[in-house]
Amino acid sequence: MLLLPLLLLVVLIPGGDNKPAFQGPTTFHLNQISSFANSTWAQNQGSGWLGDLQIHGWDSESGTAIFLKPWSKGNLSDEEVTELVETFRVYLIGFIWFIRDHVSEFQLTYPFEIQGTAGCELRAGEATVSFLRGALGGVDFMSLWNGTCVPAAEAVSHAQSFCRVYTQYQGISDIIGNLLYHTCPRFLWSVLEAGKAELQRQVKPEAWLSSGPPPGPGCLLLVCHVSGFYPKPVWVRWMRGQQEQPGAQQGDVLPNADGMWHLRVTLDVAAGEAAGLTCRVRHSSLGGQDIVLYWGNSTSLTVIFLAVILPTLILLICLTLWFWRRWSYQNIP
Ligand SMILES: *[C@@H]1O[C@H](CO)[C@@H](O)[C@H](O)[C@H]1NC(C)=O
Ligand SMILES: *[C@@H]1O[C@H](CO)[C@@H](O)[C@H](O)[C@H]1NC(C)=O
Ligand SMILES: *[C@@H]1O[C@H](CO)[C@@H](O)[C@H](O)[C@H]1NC(C)=O
Repeated sequence: MLLLPLLLLVVLIPGGDNKPAFQGPTTFHLNQISSFANSTWAQNQGSGWLGDLQIHGWDSESGTAIFLKPWSKGNLSDEEVTELVETFRVYLIGFIWFIRDHVSEFQLTYPFEIQGTAGCELRAGEATVSFLRGALGGVDFMSLWNGTCVPAAEAVSHAQSFCRVYTQYQGISDIIGNLLYHTCPRFLWSVLEAGKAELQRQVKPEAWLSSGPPPGPGCLLLVCHVSGFYPKPVWVRWMRGQQEQPGAQQGDVLPNADGMWHLRVTLDVAAGEAAGLTCRVRHSSLGGQDIVLYWGNSTSLTVIFLAVILPTLILLICLTLWFWRRWSYQNIP
């Protein structure tokens, strides 16, 4: 019973813009996805995230946490970790029982999926903010504000009964409050410190150009690839001179297997207009030196000609003249 409403899917709402002057992630949150196929089959998935980096997994078969980084435990002692893992194990099992018991009261119909997020965020000046939010089938359901369960506007009637039930369990709201407002901020500070070398590293992107399948006759699809960088924020534009090209399509910034990121930005142009376009890449690891790639073989051949071949030719001509003159002086009788 105790654990039931522990359900509280907690959520961490990514905060405003007043982030501390701190490199790397500033939030920690746990995600829970509970899928209910029918009255007898349900499954939980859990994970822990620092910003967009996953540092914890959950093995739902054995009910154990998976620590994905050597520093994923922050400075929590082994005892604290064991206790927390046990709390989550019992909570996840209890959550399924609790929801099953209240399916009709909460007006749920199988199959459905419940998502929860809970965590905390650093704000400027050592402050932390904690949040918890639950969603049903991707639609906000309820959130916890300063410890109070608040039904989401979109889901009033069943969320109201949920919050009514939640409020009845003082013991559970105390546990959740303690995890959110005390354990989470302490853990966040310590895990940011423990993982500092990895979280604050700067890895330079590699960038290259290619052409994609032509979008139409007489057209070219120019592709600018940017890969292997860290952290995630990056700025990539197709430019002509100082002018950004407005038609560029930017894909999502996607993870590589090694934890680095990659991105593709494409531009659709008439074949005759491709020469002179550049792809410009700005990233924190580049220290203000943007990477600039020039499109077009004709341009690069001209550049190679001007920069290498022409000076070489001039040098050769000068040498030839000099030898010839020396040779002719020596041969003056
Ligand atoms: C419940 O859903 C599971 C998974 O989809 C399925 O294997 C099982 O047969 C279903 N049971 C009933 C009674 O419908
Ligand atoms: C949060 O809750 C505490 C205790 O319940 C209360 O004293 C405080 O005023 C609340 N803060 C806000 C912003 O509502
Ligand atoms: C763990 O780190 C937190 C935050 O930095 C700190 O308040 C706490 O005292 C540390 N605990 C231990 C056991 O070192």
